[in-house]
Amino acid sequence: MTGWTNDAAIKRWSAMPRDVLAEMADSGDFAKRHLVNPVILRMLGRVSGLRVLDAGCGNGYLSRMLAVRGAEVVGVEPAEALYAFAAEQECSRPQGIRYVQVDLCALPDLGEQFDAVVASMVVQAIPDWRGAMRACVDALKPGGLFVFAVNHPCFEQLWPVWRTHGEFRTHEYLATYEIEGPYGVDFHRTVSDYLNELANLGCRLRELAEPGLGPDVAATAPVGIEAYIHLPNFMIVAATTA
Ligand SMILES: C[S@@+](CC[C@H](N)C(=O)[O-])C[C@H]1O[C@@H](n2cnc3c(N)ncnc32)[C@H](O)[C@@H]1O
Repeated sequence: MTGWTNDAAIKRWSAMPRDVLAEMADSGDFAKRHLVNPVILRMLGRVSGLRVLDAGCGNGYLSRMLAVRGAEVVGVEPAEALYAFAAEQECSRPQGIRYVQVDLCALPDLGEQFDAVVASMVVQAIPDWRGAMRACVDALKPGGLFVFAVNHPCFEQLWPVWRTHGEFRTHEYLATYEIEGPYGVDFHRTVSDYLNELANLGCRLRELAEPGLGPDVAATAPVGIEAYIHLPNFMIVAATTA
């Protein structure tokens, strides 16, 4: 137990600076562009005409990428600065995205159920992560697709650890604990926590991806990220509801 509430965690994200949100407005940061987005988009497949929920949409970059591909997107984001940024983008360049400022664990009626729900780097940021996963699955049509990405629970803080030691090291895996980030807090849980929760929710695992970076792509990174060639920084899961 960490003692954190959802509200306290959301408050931390609410102070994220606008210039940082703007820098990542088109397609996220380097790691998202090369490791997360391609896998999520492949897992979602053709989204044109589908209703997609971007759960914990942050600055809304993924919502906008999905809308460009023809999806009818609802983005849910509770943190004020991030929600405001996403909503502003929709005002200045309308794509038909509906943004809703709410905690995933308290979702209002969002209308028709979704064909797909994507939660990119979100479940790990929520103290009541089981409630959040349940909300994602409950929002789906029968047979709908739930895709979520988290920092890989076996290799958390991969880049800073590798930079310090030239390899990855960990001394704590089985406990739940918080990991302070520059703009918010993440929570360590195990791989089995996530996968068993999917099973509890009646989902069927379709794919678990642990993407690595090609050396040629790593060489184009703004700063050295050799670790991402050798170890997976992200765990990305696709599952379907019954
Ligand atoms: C690492 S950011 C990822 C944002 C976005 N999905 C992306 O990939 O850029 C984590 C996000 O989770 C959101 N979050 C935290 N607690 C939440 C909750 N209870 N319900 C929904 N989103 C939450 C934060 O506000 C933040 O936008």
